Amino acid sequence: MTPPLGTATRDRLRIAIQKSGRLAEPARSLLAACGLSWRESRDKLFCYGESLPVDLLLVRDDDIPGLIADGVCDLGVVGRNELDEQAGERARNGLPPAYRELHGLGFGQCRLMLAVPEEWEWQGPQQLQGLRIATSYPAILAGWLQRQGIDAHVVELSGSVEIAPRLGTADLICDLVSSGATLAANHLKPVENLLDSEAVLAGPAGGFDDARAGLAQMLLRRVDGVLQLKDRKLLMFSAARESLPALERLLQDAGPLVIVPTQGGPAQGGSGQNGALSLQTMCEGAVSWQQLEELERAGARGLMVLTVERSLA
Ligand code: PRP
Ligand code: ZN
Repeated sequence: MTPPLGTATRDRLRIAIQKSGRLAEPARSLLAACGLSWRESRDKLFCYGESLPVDLLLVRDDDIPGLIADGVCDLGVVGRNELDEQAGERARNGLPPAYRELHGLGFGQCRLMLAVPEEWEWQGPQQLQGLRIATSYPAILAGWLQRQGIDAHVVELSGSVEIAPRLGTADLICDLVSSGATLAANHLKPVENLLDSEAVLAGPAGGFDDARAGLAQMLLRRVDGVLQLKDRKLLMFSAARESLPALERLLQDAGPLVIVPTQGGPAQGGSGQNGALSLQTMCEGAVSWQQLEELERAGARGLMVLTVERSLA
């Protein structure tokens, strides 16, 4: 059932995502929220798209840029850190760009940072002259050092970068920082940010010239819709017209307060029981109990917070 990899199946889109790790679950949830569903194969490496001709390939995140470059996969969900590193590597080897970032996905946030032993007094990048920096991101680091005009030694390590200073194999490190717990546990402190990373949807530099173009475009639009709605809440309530100024003040950070026309109401807006208006507004982020209570004190009645499931902008 699994089609051979590497052959160009032109009528189905193939997306590579991380098999396990911090991007795996959110990547699948995002794609599911975009309306995709799959039948899992027994080897659990290939998921056949059922709702749409969009299949998943479950792989190691480090392999994703290469799979796109080789045309084995059409799209991938991968950390910007990994994508930029491998793009930098290609450029250093004189290869043309093979993939590009299509859309930031708002999860898997972390930063690629320089970190030094806690006791160092950090005076700035010039301090790095002639030092040894351990990293799994040699291309990004080399590019940054060059832009800073610094001549330092890049010590490439594939893992456990954070113990290099203690082992004496490097003076400092350049590694991903998320919570900062790994640095703290190794008595290191972050000093320079080289890259703000998050999960991104990546695609080939050249785009598609067959049925996959339409599928990719549709998927991107849905991703956009899902991300825009993320954390958005629709707040509905009713209130008398004279309460509007106070309510609008409390809802300054929300979208415009809309008067919902109700059947039989006056032309400018609905008017329910006792002349109350039906109102709604879109809020970014959660709406707390405290906010609801304040709105109620200002005259809002029948307050309801609703999750918006889908929307086409
Ligand atoms: C990174 C990095 C650190 C850790 C930092 O690896 O290499 O080990 O996360 O996280 P913290 O600041 O929350 O302690 P990660 O597990 O992301 O995966 P990787 O092996 O793909 O680099
Ligand atoms: Zn990895």
